[in-house]
Amino acid sequence: MERIAVGLLGVGTVGSGVARLLGERADLITRRSGKRVDLKRAVVRDLGKSRGVSLDGVEVSDDPRRVIDDPEISVVIETMGGTHPTLGIVLDCLAAGKHVVTANKALLAEHGREVFAQARKYGRAVAFEASVGGGIPIIQALAVGLAANQVTSLAAIVNGTCNYILTKMTQDGLPYSVALGQAQGLGFAEADPTLDVDGTDTAHKLAVLAQLAFGATVTTDQIPREGIDRLQPADITYAGELGYTVKLLALAKLAGEALELRVAPTLVKRGTPLAEVRGPYNAVRVVGDAVGDTLFYGRGAGELPTASAVVGDLIDVVVGRAALTFNALNLWADDAPPARLATANLVRSRYYLRFSIADQPGVLATLAKSLGSHGISIASVIQHDPGDDATDGHVPLVIMTHLAAEASLKSALAEIDRLDVVRRPSVCLGVED
Ligand code: NAP
Ligand code: HSE
Repeated sequence: MERIAVGLLGVGTVGSGVARLLGERADLITRRSGKRVDLKRAVVRDLGKSRGVSLDGVEVSDDPRRVIDDPEISVVIETMGGTHPTLGIVLDCLAAGKHVVTANKALLAEHGREVFAQARKYGRAVAFEASVGGGIPIIQALAVGLAANQVTSLAAIVNGTCNYILTKMTQDGLPYSVALGQAQGLGFAEADPTLDVDGTDTAHKLAVLAQLAFGATVTTDQIPREGIDRLQPADITYAGELGYTVKLLALAKLAGEALELRVAPTLVKRGTPLAEVRGPYNAVRVVGDAVGDTLFYGRGAGELPTASAVVGDLIDVVVGRAALTFNALNLWADDAPPARLATANLVRSRYYLRFSIADQPGVLATLAKSLGSHGISIASVIQHDPGDDATDGHVPLVIMTHLAAEASLKSALAEIDRLDVVRRPSVCLGVED
């Protein structure tokens, strides 16, 4: 039986899961790929670190060139993460005639064009199922299963760390920093967890999804993003009173010819599928013009769920399917026109607003007048007894709006935040019903 030699770059959380599956499921992988898949070499930074997985028979080095320069290795699995020195190593692997399987959404979001141009130049495949949604086969679904559709909208929870933190804060009242520490301990977070909590990781994944769903090449900087790092527990509580739960959502919607993209903590109506996605689970809701509403759900982070997607890709590469799919899709094409992104006057949503206002007669009317003068209609209001919530004579006022244009809302909030009766900058979160 033909043997396929594989190189593994990085044996951390995901890489150890890959080594585990390749070792423990060798027979199944051979049956499904029709070839004997051998992990020949692995590369790490610290040769002295214990890996928690057997690497017997694998040549472990701290020098990526051991993999790049080994002519017997035909597939490289990149689970190192980051963009430097990873980009150079991946480009060298492709130039050396190796297919690449990667879990690295930062690499694709920031350097997709270079990586795919190199793959095309050397006739190799790049497979990246694990880059979005951990174990959920969302890349295959968009690339193959939904290929007959024009996707019209997509709403996704794609960061397991953030969803874990929000779940713990909402259900158990855990402080943010404690929940973040737990997510790191469980192997969900990036090496630098700032990328998780400030929304960058979700934006990286949205850039990958936008490529597949809309053919749009966007850089992370083109995606308006907010993370959960500045979210106040008070907003989780008020959202609950209004029948909503707060989720970090990646949103992509066609607005006429333009594409609206954003990453932001968002109020999601309780009882809807996305609101019920808890802990490290992820979900991607895709609406296609032929299929209608679809939902993909599963574990979005962690060792084995992510390794499941990586090894699935490896089998796809060995069988030859990955090359066929991604050649046909022509992703991150050099000649692709720039994406047409929606401007704030095209973006419409319902909004949750929280103000800190002086506890005086007429203030609510002043705010309502300002919102009304910008065409923003109020759907509901919460103002608790000042005894509960007053700070220095100021009280919180929560307003839910009806559908409003983002540009009008921004103008109204700028005006309101300049009023003497308003103590702090207003809080504004989008709402998905
Ligand atoms: P990790 O635990 O930090 O592991 C990274 C591995 O790469 C480590 O073994 C590290 O070596 C090695 N490495 C890093 N830089 C290196 C260098 N310059 N030279 C040689 N080896 C180097 O990271 P991870 O959580 O497994 O994530 C890996 C990738 O998968 C990232 O792109 C991440 O975004 C993506 N991903 C992660 C998850 C998840 O749940 N963790 C899920 C989906 C996708 P040492 O161990 O010696 O330091
Ligand atoms: N840090 C990422 C997360 C890993 O928490 O979702 C999966 O991509």
